[in-house]
Amino acid sequence: MPLPKSEYVSDIWKDGIFANKVVFCTGGAGTICSAQVRALVHLGANACIIGRNVEKTERVAQDIATARPGAKVIGIGAVDVRQFEDLKNAVERCVKELGSIDYVIAGAAGNFLASIEQLSVNAFKSVMDIDVIGSYNTLKATLPYLVESGGKHRMDSETLQPPASGTGGRIVFVSATLHYRGMPFQAHVSVAKAGIDSLSNSTAIEYGPRGVTSNIIAPGPIAQTEGLERLLPSDAKAAYTKSQPLGRFGHVRDIADATVYLFSDAGSYVTGQTLVVDGANWRMSGGF
Ligand code: HXC
Repeated sequence: MPLPKSEYVSDIWKDGIFANKVVFCTGGAGTICSAQVRALVHLGANACIIGRNVEKTERVAQDIATARPGAKVIGIGAVDVRQFEDLKNAVERCVKELGSIDYVIAGAAGNFLASIEQLSVNAFKSVMDIDVIGSYNTLKATLPYLVESGGKHRMDSETLQPPASGTGGRIVFVSATLHYRGMPFQAHVSVAKAGIDSLSNSTAIEYGPRGVTSNIIAPGPIAQTEGLERLLPSDAKAAYTKSQPLGRFGHVRDIADATVYLFSDAGSYVTGQTLVVDGANWRMSGGF
């Protein structure tokens, strides 16, 4: 039974805005990233999702493909973002089978709750490696294709008209808000997410002249995600929800819509930014 559209993208976007585009996504079998990719596929893109678990990654890819008749979605499992060669091979397969890479979502992440003294040196390093080195490896492996696509899809500097073929050369890193003020038991992830934010900023400045935009999406507490399940005990959820400014958790669709915005014509002049999609959670509580 295909997932109803209302579960992963709002009705306001025009069908086909990402026709003939290709999105490459790490962590693509996860709850948030699969919704981001599903929204882009629904709106015309083809996609390649990367994960560590072969069976899960292939299954989610097949499922995402049901978002649009004729969509091509490849799931490449057994890829560890810590291994550059793994990613390079996945990128080459994506381009061979789908023709290009126009958009990248760097979403692979690792997390668990642990105090600084409970963390072993290897535990700290594991999260740094998955989040920071993994994001860097993703950027580095896809950059030649982002530059190629960005160069083709730049808005004309005289007329300020977008090219007829739409947009390309865009990367979004999935980060968090917990490092804005600091959070107990999350030192490892906070350091890693701060590093990812910084990598995005450098990418925006260094590759803007070649037509590439780079932004962060920082989700808050999003319902039914592994992150929320790990960080918030079930018996605390109801009270926590009531304490929030909007009185609800986020929905994966909120993150998918933010991604569509950043990759669409509407996001052409937005780069080097963080789009916090958290219902003002971090201003209330210090972040998620
Ligand atoms: C303390 C822990 C631990 C825990 C693992 N370690 N879990 N230490 N508390 N709960 C330690 C291990 O003992 C080991 O150190 C080191 O971390 C590496 O663990 P491995 O299992 O060998 O590594 P690996 O298989 O690579 O797994 C990486 C992982 C794991 C991060 C530990 O949890 C993972 O693969 N996660 C991916 C999925 C995930 O986390 N998704 C949630 C994403 S949500 P020693 O010293 O014993 O060798 C998210 C949101 C962030 O990221 C934002 C928050 C809102």
